[in-house]
Amino acid sequence: MGKDVIIALDFDSKEKTLAFLDQFTEEKPFVKIGMELFYAEGPAVVREIKARGHKIFLDLKLHDIPNTVKKAMAVLSGLDVDMTNLHAAGTRAMMEAALEGLTRPDGTRPLLIAVTQLTSTNQARMEQDILIEKPLDQVVMHYARCAAQSGLDGVVCSPLEAGKVHNACGHGFLAVTPGVRFADGDAGDQVRVTTPARARELGSDYIVVGRPITQAADPVAAYRRCVSEFVG
Ligand code: C5P
Repeated sequence: MGKDVIIALDFDSKEKTLAFLDQFTEEKPFVKIGMELFYAEGPAVVREIKARGHKIFLDLKLHDIPNTVKKAMAVLSGLDVDMTNLHAAGTRAMMEAALEGLTRPDGTRPLLIAVTQLTSTNQARMEQDILIEKPLDQVVMHYARCAAQSGLDGVVCSPLEAGKVHNACGHGFLAVTPGVRFADGDAGDQVRVTTPARARELGSDYIVVGRPITQAADPVAAYRRCVSEFVG
């Protein structure tokens, strides 16, 4: 599995998204489509971007009863995406059902990645709102191990946690990591940030990069800089 840079297409319309992608005339970046664009444009935008030759991480973070997630995953798999995700909090039964749903008749399937605890959750919120009293990092690693035991391919985590995830779940288990910024860039609302080069040293398998590329004066140059720092 090669390391790669995934651009987060955090746009609210197909027009803005395609205008952004039109700037890439020489390469076809791996892209992430999240709830905003998917809910605005529906599955058609996924098919259109796939038809343009991009790999797609469909970031919809499913979390429901196992049977519903299984059937929803079968639909997403039919869109021919390359990677998708769910919440590990949905339990192992839900993750196993999701894998069954994702697997196509020919045995192939998109990569399936788990969200552990969102980075917007902190210890106090977890204790007060969802009555989880264990330390947050233990919860994250437990969820990662449950995902690995269920047969998933990896987790979304900080580059700072990639090493721990690999030690607990194996080196083939993917650490897909947002929170990436250039050394001379603006962190925005991300709190714990890492440069692409540092993410590579820490063992990230894929970095997910949004605004440092989408809001750059020259997005293609910013993407190339990310690739050269991260992939080499
Ligand atoms: O613009 P920026 O580089 O911060 O975008 C990062 C992307 O990764 C966004 O789509 C964001 O929703 C996503 N993400 C994140 N932190 C997580 C999980 C997902 O920033 N813990």
